Amino acid sequence: MNRILVLGSINIDHSYELERIVRPGETVASSAYRTAWGGKGLNQAIALAKAGAETALAAQLSAADRPGLEMFCAPFGLDISRVRGLDCPSGHAIIQVESSGQNSIIIAAGANGMMEDATIAAIDEYGAGDILLLQNEINRMPEIIRRGKERGMTVALNPSPCSKEMLDWPLELVDIFILNETEGEYISGTSCVEEMLDILAAKFPAAGIVLTLGAQGSVYRRGEEEYRVAAMKVEAVDTTAAGDTYTGYFLAGISEGKAVREAMELATRAAAITVSRQGAAGSIPMAADLA
Ligand code: RIB
Repeated sequence: MNRILVLGSINIDHSYELERIVRPGETVASSAYRTAWGGKGLNQAIALAKAGAETALAAQLSAADRPGLEMFCAPFGLDISRVRGLDCPSGHAIIQVESSGQNSIIIAAGANGMMEDATIAAIDEYGAGDILLLQNEINRMPEIIRRGKERGMTVALNPSPCSKEMLDWPLELVDIFILNETEGEYISGTSCVEEMLDILAAKFPAAGIVLTLGAQGSVYRRGEEEYRVAAMKVEAVDTTAAGDTYTGYFLAGISEGKAVREAMELATRAAAITVSRQGAAGSIPMAADLA
């Protein structure tokens, strides 16, 4: 089994339940409010650990919030020894969840946007045969991608959320992309799924590309190789962290030597459970819940 390092964000999520997502100029009262652990880095690391992969998270948050994170992570076997507490606010997210389960998220980077050398140096403890999993909620990303590659790691990227800067990153160094339609459109320049796959496959011929399509399931493309897995029908309560769950479970499957299609099926089952629960990191299922 490969070791996996997630270098990414930690957020404190402030979630508001609403009949529907607020429109410009509108004020709406929420029916429920809660705070919970989130951030794409933490969510994906938790998904990997819950799936049984040997996972460490390198990240930054306010020193004051570290004891709470330790308590939250303790049951899942996630190594957070490379999570550094700083004298600055933690990242946070404001999440609106409407009755259909659909969400809308604002993030404020806090410590996630101040990546220090000592945090990034975690990469130097890893090498060939290990996986580096990244998202787009921390700064210094181009340098991080290059450093992972220099160490001989397999670089996996979930390019979420999209940003203009991302198009200038050394994306040709990425070995595995896990992205949704919005992110795929951003990188390929087309909203047509089939064209998107062709463009991404031509642009990154050596990379494995996993495109998640919500109710339409997911597709994997690498050169001539292609697999399609249907979505599972579920009553969506909160879609937050569904993509993170898919990413974590997919990579966990790959790291333990499962075939690509099998890893996609595992990830699909795990993400279906996440959307049927409220919250982010806390809503991700344990491997035993998938049996
Ligand atoms: O992917 C879901 C996550 O996006 C939330 O936990 C929130 O923190 C934002 O990073």
